[in-house]
Amino acid sequence: MDTLNVELGNRSYPILIDAGLIGRADVLERHVPARDVLIVSNTRVAPLYLAALAAGLGAGRRLVEVILPDGEAHKTLANVARVLDVLVANRFGRDCSLVALGGGVVGDLAGFAAACYQRGVAFVQVPTTLLAQVDAAVGGKTGVNHPGGKNLIGAFHQPAAVLSDIATLATLPPRERSAGFAEVIKYGLICDAEFFAWLEAHLPQLLSGDPAALVHAVRRSCEIKAGVVGRDEREQGERALLNLGHTFGHALESATGYREWLHGEAVAAGLVMAAEMSRACGLLSSADAERVRSLVARAGLPTCIPGVTPGAALEHMRIDKKIKGGRIRLVLLRGIGAACLTADYPEGALRDTLQACCGPERGLT
Ligand code: NAD
Ligand code: GLY
Repeated sequence: MDTLNVELGNRSYPILIDAGLIGRADVLERHVPARDVLIVSNTRVAPLYLAALAAGLGAGRRLVEVILPDGEAHKTLANVARVLDVLVANRFGRDCSLVALGGGVVGDLAGFAAACYQRGVAFVQVPTTLLAQVDAAVGGKTGVNHPGGKNLIGAFHQPAAVLSDIATLATLPPRERSAGFAEVIKYGLICDAEFFAWLEAHLPQLLSGDPAALVHAVRRSCEIKAGVVGRDEREQGERALLNLGHTFGHALESATGYREWLHGEAVAAGLVMAAEMSRACGLLSSADAERVRSLVARAGLPTCIPGVTPGAALEHMRIDKKIKGGRIRLVLLRGIGAACLTADYPEGALRDTLQACCGPERGLT
């Protein structure tokens, strides 16, 4: 079993990566020591994995379940209230633990409920999507959406452990699996050129679900994220680099009303745009920008989001959280494996990038 740690002093925690973790009684006994356990899952994941998790947790505990409807639309305060109501109704004390069984939606929501209940109780992430295993479950960002925007309500609350059972990825629809690869590619681009080259070489094995290749990709991604979070938990600096591709991606997602494209798909197009922008600024060679586009395309991910005009994308970029002094700050690439955050770029380069990368409609509106 692969294990690594997120080093945060007395809030440090392990990330375990292996096939079959969900049913491992020894692992669950060690990492979910609470007697009273609330499992939060959803209608799609629970029928697949809840029975194995409950069996692994064993009979000597009080197990309660909350099964949410599936989908981003249900990552709401109302569903946090539902989880909290169940905790109160069952008189769970501060020594209880929540276990989030599902993708990033379930993990973010359950983590936020854990952050709120009695000012913070333990929770364990059991992520079942690639995106959640390499990103959402690690690092302690929890929260829900508000009608006024995505992830507007939340808290930093680190899990007690992350148990990534890569066998669960076998039931993930291929489109969801590809979406997770966008975040994996992102880690190589940010700080590990060797990992990026490994992804180029091993993409066929990864796409066919080869367990050894998946463990390596999840482990290296988590190592990189754990290192960044350990140095900058509250995103005062370096953690912003994890948003490579996301300023473009969020703009594409919000310009399309969060309906058409998965988050990872929008991030994938955003990575291509960040590479193109870096090339336009003279930071990245054309050959390296092409490597980014090619790997994204080979992973079955979009390299642009058709139907979004450059003007609409720019409007949505202007409401990004990383705006400072009226300038859109962007994570750009000085090379493959060398990301930087900057507001110092020619405005024309941004317009040219949007012009080149946005959908078929041409011309800034
Ligand atoms: P998701 O949780 O909606 O899961 C995607 C789909 O796959 C859902 O329909 C889900 O039910 C299904 N699913 C999950 N596991 C499955 C399995 N093993 N087999 C079959 N189906 C399965 O989406 P996601 O991509 O995992 O996460 C996206 C969410 O994560 C967003 O809300 C995003 O804001 C959040 N996020 C958070 C962070 C963070 O740092 N906290 C980082 C990135 C993303
Ligand atoms: N997903 C970006 C972060 O956790 O900071």
